[in-house]
Amino acid sequence: MTLRERRDVETDVYQPAEDSELLADAACDRLENGAGDGPLVLEVGTGSGYVAGRIADETDSRVVASDLNPHAVRQARREGVETVRADLVSPFADDAFDAVVFNPPYLPTDPDNEWDDWMEHALSGGEDGRAVIDPFLSSVGRVLAPDGVGYLLVSSLTGVDEVVERAGENGFSAVAVADESFPFETLTVLELLR
Ligand SMILES: C[S@@+](CC[C@H](N)C(=O)[O-])C[C@H]1O[C@@H](n2cnc3c(N)ncnc32)[C@H](O)[C@@H]1O
Repeated sequence: MTLRERRDVETDVYQPAEDSELLADAACDRLENGAGDGPLVLEVGTGSGYVAGRIADETDSRVVASDLNPHAVRQARREGVETVRADLVSPFADDAFDAVVFNPPYLPTDPDNEWDDWMEHALSGGEDGRAVIDPFLSSVGRVLAPDGVGYLLVSSLTGVDEVVERAGENGFSAVAVADESFPFETLTVLELLR
C-alpha cells in the first residue's frame, strides 16, 4: 500500500470495530447453519471488507459487497472482496441473494453538527439515526430471494423497536439473534425474514 492509500484508509474508511465483529460473528454462525449450500451473500456498506471477508472465509458462501465510499471500495477490493461502488442495493438484480448483511451508519446526529466527509457517511444516521436504515429496509426485499434472510446491525441509540416496526411495514419479521452491551449503547443484530 502506498502512503497516500494508507492515509485514505485511515481517514476515510470505517475500520472494524465491536459492531463489525458482532455482525460478522452472528452472520457466520447463522449462515453456517442454515442458508443452504453455497449461499450468495451481499454485504451492503462493506467499509474495509472485514465482515464480507469473514463470511467468505468462515462459511461456504460466495460474497459480494457494495459501498458508497470509493476509498472503501478500494480497500475492500485490496482485501479480496468483490466490491462495487453503489448506493445500498441499487445495481443488483431482483431475487439475487440468499442473504444480505448491513452494519449501517446509525448514530443520531444533530443537523447542525453534520461534518460532511466519508466518515460522516459511515457513522451518521441523520437526526433519528435511521436515515440510511429506512431506505435499506424498503429496498432490500427486492434483491433477496423469496426465502432469503437479512442481518442488520442496530443500536439502542437508533431505537431497536422503531427499526423492528419499519421492518414489519416492509414485510419482514425481525428477531434479535445477537446483542452486546457497552456503557453508552447496546448493539443488536436483527435477523429479517419474510
Ligand atoms: C458503520 S460503517 C460499517 C463498515 C463495515 N461494514 C464494518 O462493519 O466494519 C457503514 C458503511 O456503510 C457505507 N454506506 C453509508 N451509506 C451507504 C449507502 N447509501 N450505500 C452503500 N454504502 C453506504 C459507509 O461508507 C460505511 O462504509
